[in-house]
Amino acid sequence: MGYHLITGATGLLGRYLIRDLASAGVPLAVLVRPTRRMTVDQRIDMIMAFWDDHLGRELPRPVVLEGNINEENLGLSQEQLEWATENVDRIIHSAASLSFYSTSQESEPWRSNVGGVKKVLEFCKTANIKKFDHVSTAYVCGLRTGRIMESDVDVGQESGNDYERSKLDAELLVRSADHIESLTVFRPAIIIGDSKTGFTNTFHGFYAALQLGHTLTQMQTPDETGRLYANSRFTLDGDESKNLIPVDWVSAVMSYIITHPKHHEKTYHLTPLHPVQSRLVHDVLEATCNFYGSIFAGAGVELTDPTEAERLFYDHIRVYNSYWRDDPVFDSTNTQTAAPHLPCPHIDRELLTRLSQAAIDMNFSWNDRTPHRFGVK
Ligand SMILES: NC(=O)c1ccc[n+]([C@@H]2O[C@H](COP(=O)([O-])OP(=O)(O)OC[C@H]3O[C@@H](n4cnc5c(N)ncnc54)[C@H](OP(=O)(O)O)[C@@H]3O)[C@@H](O)[C@H]2O)c1
Repeated sequence: MGYHLITGATGLLGRYLIRDLASAGVPLAVLVRPTRRMTVDQRIDMIMAFWDDHLGRELPRPVVLEGNINEENLGLSQEQLEWATENVDRIIHSAASLSFYSTSQESEPWRSNVGGVKKVLEFCKTANIKKFDHVSTAYVCGLRTGRIMESDVDVGQESGNDYERSKLDAELLVRSADHIESLTVFRPAIIIGDSKTGFTNTFHGFYAALQLGHTLTQMQTPDETGRLYANSRFTLDGDESKNLIPVDWVSAVMSYIITHPKHHEKTYHLTPLHPVQSRLVHDVLEATCNFYGSIFAGAGVELTDPTEAERLFYDHIRVYNSYWRDDPVFDSTNTQTAAPHLPCPHIDRELLTRLSQAAIDMNFSWNDRTPHRFGVK
């Protein structure tokens, strides 16, 4: 078997893919960029030490390639490019910018999600890599309603934000690349932390609302019972559905499909059978942020007389406006057919509370250099 090259390996999903694919015996290479404080080798060493500690055994190390998806030949040295050409036969492209809005076509998310995909495709041509696993998003469907099929791509939909549009453009680019002989597309919904440990190293989407609620309530004074009665209004009905999925499940399904060639060359909605309702999300936010008395004012209602806390909340959550609404129904027949033995863990009150508490305990930040909070010495 040739090496599988993972982009975005330091991200939330990427690090789980390293764990699961390395555990399955897949020879791995990773494309990583340095940070101001860490070399690419140090970054991967930290992630591998974390997994070794959690698994209680040493995982095989990936080959670390230093690069950036926005550069020619991904910024690889001549020697690394030759190594990749000789050894890599499959790319798992997970790197992306999760910025929702851009200031210009040259900035994120366009730069990495569209420009970066073009560079990754050119690199595949140069390095003769013909198998491509593309990590897209279920939200390439944009603002569509009703049932979204895995076979649907561009049906003229309006996108909810620049991120969704950039991911749709990226999917269209990989689908039209003639030199890719085998393309598998994964479309996760909203990724949250590990269903077993609560771990996450990024705090987008669901966590942004949680962090905002938590920060705002920290600024208030609780009553004698220790609770805050915020009397705030949510501009939702309470029965909107949201498709939250734990990262360990996303990685398990992807890794199973990647290691079973008969399932390649399809598109997979990585979405739960039973989405959560916004009422449950609200209840968990109340309980974990310790505020009470908030009500549902109705979907899309304009608050003409917002309180200070409401104004702050809606100002800051605006960037996620497109998620502050009812999700469509994602058909996931391909996923269920390929991996019926890997059902998505049900996101119930207990699990969502545990994940929320873990993020609060982490103070909504994670640093691979000081990972002791999750048990690495
Ligand atoms: N999170 C979600 O809810 C969600 C939902 C649906 C789909 N997805 C998709 O799933 C994939 C993984 O998302 P994630 O949640 O793991 O995101 P993440 O934690 O933010 O990780 C993003 C990864 O991409 C890398 N990256 C970004 N720009 C790069 C560049 N120019 N060159 C090299 N690497 C670059 C980052 O590297 P650094 O560590 O160096 O920054 C990081 O490893 C993405 O394609 C995303 O669009 C995510």
